[in-house]
Amino acid sequence: MGCTVAIGTQWGDEGKAKMIDYLTRDADIVVRYQGGANAGHTVVVNDKKFVFHLIPSGILHEGKTCVIGNGVVLDPAELIEEIEVLEGKGYNVKERLIISDAAHFILPYHKTLDSLMEEDSEEKIGTTKRGIGPCYADKCLRVGIRTGDIFDEAHLKKRVIAALKIKNLQFEKIYGLPPVAVEEIMELILDFKTKAGQMVQNSQKFLHDALKHKKKILLEGAQGFALDIDHGTYPFVTSSNPTIGGALIGSGLNAGEIDEVLGITKAYVTRVGEGPFPSEANEEDSERLRVNGNEFGATTGRPRRCGWFDIPLLKKSIQINGLNSLAVTKLDVLTGFDKIKICTGYEVDGKRDDDICLSNLSRVKPIFIEMDGWDENISKYRTFDELPVNTKNYLNFIEEELQIPIKYISVGPSREFTFKK
Ligand code: GDP
Ligand code: IMO
Ligand code: MG
Repeated sequence: MGCTVAIGTQWGDEGKAKMIDYLTRDADIVVRYQGGANAGHTVVVNDKKFVFHLIPSGILHEGKTCVIGNGVVLDPAELIEEIEVLEGKGYNVKERLIISDAAHFILPYHKTLDSLMEEDSEEKIGTTKRGIGPCYADKCLRVGIRTGDIFDEAHLKKRVIAALKIKNLQFEKIYGLPPVAVEEIMELILDFKTKAGQMVQNSQKFLHDALKHKKKILLEGAQGFALDIDHGTYPFVTSSNPTIGGALIGSGLNAGEIDEVLGITKAYVTRVGEGPFPSEANEEDSERLRVNGNEFGATTGRPRRCGWFDIPLLKKSIQINGLNSLAVTKLDVLTGFDKIKICTGYEVDGKRDDDICLSNLSRVKPIFIEMDGWDENISKYRTFDELPVNTKNYLNFIEEELQIPIKYISVGPSREFTFKK
């Protein structure tokens, strides 16, 4: 492995963090490349559960370096808290974490605006209210504030004044709210400088230098393919590119440096927030999947909507991301279902159309087949051969339909419940 990218193939929460933690054994550096604290990445080690929002999920491996890439939007208070909690548990984070000087700050006004826009909207997205959309919008408007701005306070203050000029107009004129003070924002950013400034550096240079020294890099996507701002179920998406292009943009690595693109996929599908979901299960099955899989948001605690594996969705994900192989997670959650449904195609206005653009996904009627389930507890197995015949049939069917190898299988939340196929 030189550079491996691990990408969520559905609507997020595929078990990416659990796989990243597993794969970090063979990596030197783990890089988050997009998103922010909208991500909730769960790693379970020795029955202890860790949920990461900004820190890469490889951090529990001592001796490995973690990088918050330039494509990430970073809530300074949230990051400091995450670092302090981990350090409190005995992990040395500060010596192993690099924060890109080109990552943008999520500031309190971004979070306020995220909430206000959601409350005001007639077509709610169901965002995590972590300020993601407003922050990426400021990045594109070129009024964002980057972590590297902390090193020149006069310059930083100018940037804060410029950003607040627009924001305060918005607060006053649209929402009738009092203006945000420049001093309040400066104080927050300077506190970040004191506590985390020593970790801020040119991350792109760091990564290219690391490759020159034959280091192995693992790139960790947040969210998932169908939440991509360009390729997902727009407007019910996040505001970044979790897909392969986002991995390059958000790290500064180039296409020639990527050796492997691994798709992380749940053995079924979940979605949090609003938006189309063709393979969503009926109430009874959805509830059963939710309970079996503990499908509640790792960031917001919201119940996740649950449904069946969606072949056409995965085919698009494979195409857009150039996936080489898959890691199938949460296979154990399907245990006990007499019949397991799989969505094998889409029907649009009475005609078969599997290739429909994801922003039109609400028009789709799913075509389901049913496969025989299994009752045996599969969490005890560590090889493909040991799995019950119906579990093998299920995985073989997915592989054949998608024409892509399943490389890893996960049958439980902890690190040790993962094996190579
Ligand atoms: P991420 O956002 O893709 O990293 O995924 P989340 O952490 O939001 O959600 C995945 C959830 O499933 C977490 O609670 C994990 O601990 C759990 N999980 C991961 N893999 C497995 C698995 O193979 N089996 C079971 N039962 N749970 C898993
Ligand atoms: P991880 O990395 C699942 C969803 C939100 C909402 C939409 C937009 O843990 O897989 P945003 O706050 O990003 O503007 O919300 O995207 N969403 C996620 N859903 N997992 C995530 O992250 C998500 N991050 C955002 O629920 O529908
Ligand atoms: Mg998650």
